[in-house]
Amino acid sequence: MPNVVIVGAQWGDEGKGKIIDLLSEKADAVVRYQGGNNAGHTVVIDGKKHILHLVPSGILHKGKLCVIGNGVVIDPAALIAEIDELLTQGIAVDANFKISDLAHVILPYHRAIDGANEGKRGSGKIDTTQRGIGPAYGDKFGRMGIKMADLADAERLEKRVSQSLEEKNFLFSKYYALPELKSHDIVPMYLEYGRRLKPYLTDTVSLVNQLLDEKKKVLFEGAQGTFLDVDFGTYPFVTASHPTAGGACTGTGVGPTRIENILGIVKAYTTRVGAGPLPTEGKDGGADLRARGKEFGATTGRPRRCGWFDAVLVKRARVINHFEHMALTKLDVLTGIAELPICTGYKINGENIPTLPSALEDIERLETVYETLPGWNEDISSMKKLEQLPKNTRRYLDRIEELVGAKIAIVSLGEDRSQTMILNSLL
Ligand code: GDP
Ligand code: IMO
Ligand code: MG
Repeated sequence: MPNVVIVGAQWGDEGKGKIIDLLSEKADAVVRYQGGNNAGHTVVIDGKKHILHLVPSGILHKGKLCVIGNGVVIDPAALIAEIDELLTQGIAVDANFKISDLAHVILPYHRAIDGANEGKRGSGKIDTTQRGIGPAYGDKFGRMGIKMADLADAERLEKRVSQSLEEKNFLFSKYYALPELKSHDIVPMYLEYGRRLKPYLTDTVSLVNQLLDEKKKVLFEGAQGTFLDVDFGTYPFVTASHPTAGGACTGTGVGPTRIENILGIVKAYTTRVGAGPLPTEGKDGGADLRARGKEFGATTGRPRRCGWFDAVLVKRARVINHFEHMALTKLDVLTGIAELPICTGYKINGENIPTLPSALEDIERLETVYETLPGWNEDISSMKKLEQLPKNTRRYLDRIEELVGAKIAIVSLGEDRSQTMILNSLL
């Protein structure tokens, strides 16, 4: 297996966790490269559900090295809670787990600002996960962030937090009407987090590059999805990082030529959780698909909005990430639907639009063009070979490949590890 970046090709929740867990078996290491605990990656093993937010989804395989790269923003309290939960379940989180000391930290004021900004935006709110992700990345790029390495030194941390609070407290009192924070509300607690997480901290840039030097197999675990990317997504209804394949390089310190393959994770229909345009959204937010696919957020429990497969969108994701292979997930959810529309084009005022437009207002007024394929009724959830799939299911897969311009390497037919067809030995 080559080194592979696993990237969400839609708006997140495509089933990345399941696929990463599956591929981890053949990998040596799994590295998260962006996002934070806004992610919720579900892995189901023998009927038991595990939801991972920060810890890479390879952790459930014994002996796999799991790494949080520099591009991730870490809420230390959330990470410690997640580690503790895994330990309680008897899953090892020790020498098999490493955290970049360059990764930026989410502080209490980031969470407070995330919530307050949503309030200020009113009906135009983004519907963030309120985990402080946007404000933490904002401070990172504004050159006033705090890194994991800073949690090791009381004086350094006090200096940085105090500097940051000068600005934050001004905003809290004058703009957000929030109570001001004192550095002693934060510093002792974060020093304690630092002590707890110290054994895991390391120079992950050297570590991951060394693994690649030794020809070890590394999976780069993307969170969120292509259309939540801060550049390529439906801005401003996006997250604050680069979930796209390029983010794997900047988020780990690995040069682009070391990445050997990209796998796009594609849901057999479309979902999005939170506000923002969803061109193929169904009636009542796609309530029928939501019920069939049990589409509720793994992090916040919010109902996901659902719609038909959007081939224009996934083709755009294929281009941005340059994936030649896809894992198509949740195909089983479509069983029993008589007709399956696929969005094959966009129009504005009757004029064809070749891809997702750049301006939000244009995305919002897109008319979607569909072709309709016949559905199937057979239970496909335990089928093991492509040849077993009903003719109409095969036709649906073939048409998706054709429209997107990439090959389906994995078909996922249920939440369990075992409910998967691996079609391409490359992976
Ligand atoms: P991620 O964020 O991309 O890892 O995806 P989530 O875990 O947030 O959401 C995917 C949901 O679909 C989870 O509840 C998975 O257990 C479930 N799932 C994944 N693959 C399949 C599949 O092929 N069929 C069905 N029915 N469920 C799946
Ligand atoms: P995984 O990795 C789906 C969405 C939020 C909101 C927007 C911005 O499980 O696929 P943020 O808190 O990041 O500032 O919120 O992004 N969002 C996700 N949607 N899956 C995710 O992660 C998401 N992470 C963030 O709902 O619309
Ligand atoms: Mg998710």
